Amino acid sequence: MTTTAPASDIRVGVIGVGQMGADHVTRIARRIKGARVAVVTDYFRDKAEEIAASVPGCRVVDTPEELIAAEDVDAVLIASPGSFHRDQAVACIDARKPVLCEKPLAMNPEDAYTVVEAEAAARAATGVPYVSLGFMRRFDREYAELRDAIAAGALGEISLLNLKHRNAHTLPGFTDTMMVYDSAVHEVDAIHYFLGEQVTGVQVILPVPGPRAAEGQHDPMLLLFRTDAGRIVTDELYVNTASGYEVRTEAVGSAGIATIGLEHGRVTTHQEGGTWGGAIPADFRPRFVDAYDAEVQAWIAAIADGSNVAERSATSWDGYLAAATCRAAEQALTAEGFVAVTARPRP
Ligand SMILES: NC(=O)c1ccc[n+]([C@@H]2O[C@H](COP(=O)([O-])OP(=O)(O)OC[C@H]3O[C@@H](n4cnc5c(N)ncnc54)[C@H](O)[C@@H]3O)[C@@H](O)[C@H]2O)c1
Repeated sequence: MTTTAPASDIRVGVIGVGQMGADHVTRIARRIKGARVAVVTDYFRDKAEEIAASVPGCRVVDTPEELIAAEDVDAVLIASPGSFHRDQAVACIDARKPVLCEKPLAMNPEDAYTVVEAEAAARAATGVPYVSLGFMRRFDREYAELRDAIAAGALGEISLLNLKHRNAHTLPGFTDTMMVYDSAVHEVDAIHYFLGEQVTGVQVILPVPGPRAAEGQHDPMLLLFRTDAGRIVTDELYVNTASGYEVRTEAVGSAGIATIGLEHGRVTTHQEGGTWGGAIPADFRPRFVDAYDAEVQAWIAAIADGSNVAERSATSWDGYLAAATCRAAEQALTAEGFVAVTARPRP
């Protein structure tokens, strides 16, 4: 049986229906209220056709440009590879359509700044922002609780954040630079989110590579960040553990230490013997499913109320700061000590 969505639903166009884009299409079609997927496009037309066939009323167009211009698209979700995000996000801004762009905003700070400038010009003309950035961890319940605890001073003065980001596998060709711009970028945004502070320097420490590191790849690697308030953040990146997906955060304060991301699962006490424990998810989709859902639902609600960008969402400026910090981390891969982060002023 097919269902027809109400005419008032926000009509979303999805660019790129690979792993993440297909997941977002399913999410919008099945779980998000007030929206439907109207149009999809992908570099591979047959892939787009296959995904569109699973959504009643969804059609396929050949190019991102066509999708952005389409009259039956009110808002755009970009899930193409990061190297296309700059041009596709700017095209959405030029068309005055709200866009949820998957991370990263761009593959370097210069391109990210181009998006920030385009959005600032559009905002000056219309009074509203256009770009939400897919740092979905901001919508994770534990993330929000920890941020609130830090902001309320519940842990006292924070000295350290210890972050961990582990993947079971990465695709062949995943380089050190991609580990920084694709993986560590989430932690870079987490620093801004948890502490509300600017990262001023980055150091990278490279231990003996693990057994599954590709030729020339440094996996695991340890990144150290220093903020403008003198706090230190450690980030262990290990992207080929061959086990599962783990994202953990520990905040070390003068009054207490809080840890999130343990995912110990359900605890049951029972006459026949209690149990505890769950499973480590294979990848980010099950781990952050609630956060993705909350992110997209908040985006749709913001479009519906005319504000376009949800209060909790990362913005193009957050994407620029992350890219500027990743640039310093990239340089730190081959430099001694801390490399300074340089960021341009906000337009
Ligand atoms: N927020 C998160 O946790 C998270 C997780 C995974 C991926 N991502 C991001 O989502 C984006 C997509 O990643 P993915 O893992 O789905 O990659 P993917 O390779 O599985 O999918 C990308 C899709 O885009 C298509 N494509 C390529 N060039 C295109 C173009 N110019 N226009 C339209 N489509 C094009 C490809 O054919 C492919 O189907 C990346 O930016 C990635 O960093 C975010």
